[in-house]
Amino acid sequence: MSFILSVDKLFSGYGELPVLDAVSLEVGQGEIVSVVGANGAGKTTLLLTISGHLATRSGRVTFDGQDITHLPAHKAAERGLVMVPESGRLFPFMTVLENLELGAYHSAARARLRESLDEVMTLFPLLAERRTQLAGRLSGGERQMCAVARAMMALPKLLMLDEPSLGLAPIMVDKVFEMVASLVRTKGLSVLLVEQNVGNALRMCQRGYVIEHGGILKSGRGEDLLRDPDVRRSYMGL
Ligand SMILES: Nc1ncnc2c1ncn2[C@@H]1O[C@H](COP(=O)(O)OP(=O)(O)O)[C@@H](O)[C@H]1O
Ligand SMILES: [Mg+2]
Repeated sequence: MSFILSVDKLFSGYGELPVLDAVSLEVGQGEIVSVVGANGAGKTTLLLTISGHLATRSGRVTFDGQDITHLPAHKAAERGLVMVPESGRLFPFMTVLENLELGAYHSAARARLRESLDEVMTLFPLLAERRTQLAGRLSGGERQMCAVARAMMALPKLLMLDEPSLGLAPIMVDKVFEMVASLVRTKGLSVLLVEQNVGNALRMCQRGYVIEHGGILKSGRGEDLLRDPDVRRSYMGL
């Protein structure tokens, strides 16, 4: 399998505090990979480091065949590495449409703004209906959809999603995950998903990693991790 993303022995942290401890992982072309772990395990730190928002102390990030370890986040995004931050981070006092337009912030994406908007509105009819509504008035599930749609406006090859299920009702969690899976099928995207919602995240991925105290504890096919007694006991209350 060819990898769109490979992360090799990544270390990073905040000031004096080390967080990531030699994290290695891969995401194949067209693959959904989940990284699951408890609150504080280092999931957000991992995505921030891969995307270039947080400096890498050592290790290497290879994206789409190129070393992007020290590339700033906006440059990585231009190459197709796009992150959907926790809770979406939409601009609440701007409309859905304005939020989507902001997703197309780099020049290649701006050049395709019209086509991308048409495409996103077709993929997410609900957002088309709500286009003139303020983003702050969307429900939690709609906000997640809008955040994913905004990321699509940046022409991603790899979408990195930070806990898209956080705070959503179970039925909305299913909807958001289905929507992500359908983007992967129809658009040939690859996805790196980080979640505390271990059951759902492992069910929707091909492969998963368990992160604990900033290190990878185990990895395997999603269905195997779902059956793993340690994973079930520690993370699924079973
Ligand atoms: N901005 C920050 N400054 C200092 N420490 C942080 C910061 N953000 C996160 N941390 C710490 O880094 C560790 C990992 O946090 P995080 O990556 O947010 O975990 P997760 O996303 O898995 O909940 C935690 O101990 C957290 O307290
Ligand atoms: Mg987090």
